[in-house]
Amino acid sequence: MAGGVGSRFWPKSRNNFPKQFIDILGIGKSLLQLTYERFLKVCPEENIYFLTNEIYTDLIKEQLNGVSDKNIISEPCRRNTAPCIAYAAFKIKDLNPNANLVVAPSDHLILKEDVFISKIEKALAFAEHNDALVTLGIEPTRPDTGYGYIKYLKSSATEIFKVEQFLEKPTLEKAKAFLATNEYVWNAGIFIWNVNALLSGFKNFAIELYSVFERGERLYNTDDEYVFIKENYPKCENISIDFALMEKAENVYTLPGDFGWSDLGTWASLHEVMSKDASNNSFGGKAAFLQDTENCLIQIPKEKIAVIKGLANYIVVDDGEVLMIYPKNLEQEVKNVSASVADSL
Ligand code: GDD
Ligand code: MG
Repeated sequence: MAGGVGSRFWPKSRNNFPKQFIDILGIGKSLLQLTYERFLKVCPEENIYFLTNEIYTDLIKEQLNGVSDKNIISEPCRRNTAPCIAYAAFKIKDLNPNANLVVAPSDHLILKEDVFISKIEKALAFAEHNDALVTLGIEPTRPDTGYGYIKYLKSSATEIFKVEQFLEKPTLEKAKAFLATNEYVWNAGIFIWNVNALLSGFKNFAIELYSVFERGERLYNTDDEYVFIKENYPKCENISIDFALMEKAENVYTLPGDFGWSDLGTWASLHEVMSKDASNNSFGGKAAFLQDTENCLIQIPKEKIAVIKGLANYIVVDDGEVLMIYPKNLEQEVKNVSASVADSL
């Protein structure tokens, strides 16, 4: 899935150049490129599909030289993740009625690739033979309200656990309570399922969405698909897979794992994975002269120098056009700030 905006990563992430296309770690590769390379170790390139908004198809082709048009599933408008997953499921089922799918974001960091790949393989083997919606789980480290929380039934007999409760983006109060129980994992947002289990899930819990795409059943992978999608995709509800399906379904399973995962959803999550100085500041730019400054993330253009005194727990981002100085503990607000700045310009 490479069609989101990544608005909590504003001002670096923009509508016309979202986070997944940015070299956010400063290593010469975008998150999308890293994700693609990772999945090439899971399946052949012809089986990797890019779900994206039609405004990003050129960016995908530019960054992933040689990706075929038929592997890009493009959406005529933004409707969040449930519709793009439903669309892809119908299209792929038409090509392979028993396909096993991994649906993953394109903007995550995964440091332990071998562990990740072995988890994916285990989940795929399970999904192939079970009517199950499997998601990878991550041990939570803070009461982050940007994630889905999963309570599962612990048992020593298996590695893949039945989920008791899936709650998407809880309030801070709930997230704190969940964390305290030690019984929850975060939803990594990486789903593994058989195409038939997924489509039955949509049919049972999101029938309107299911019906939109069912009407085009005979048109997928034909010359008439584009016109059908252009006309019908906008009719879909704007809803994520987490709210549309995962919170409601009863056949949800989780495979917890530590594969060096980070959502890189916000500036603080980037700060966590970057190297830091003795005062816990991370820095991207030409040079920094910092005094009495701690726990700050500073990202400035390669040719700029930062001079900062007496700052603690702040995000300082200069993308050349916008300078943002924002308290770290309010980072979830950045999403709204980006919208209000755009509106007032
Ligand atoms: N094709 C397409 N179309 N992709 C989309 C769209 C869309 O309309 N909207 C979002 N995406 C892509 C994003 O680019 C990202 O790669 C992925 O789908 C997930 O969307 P996010 O918007 O980043 O979701 P989130 O981070 O708020 O929440 C999800 O991920 C968390 C873990 O990172 C949920 O699944 C949470 O439960 C989970 O904890
Ligand atoms: Mg995300």
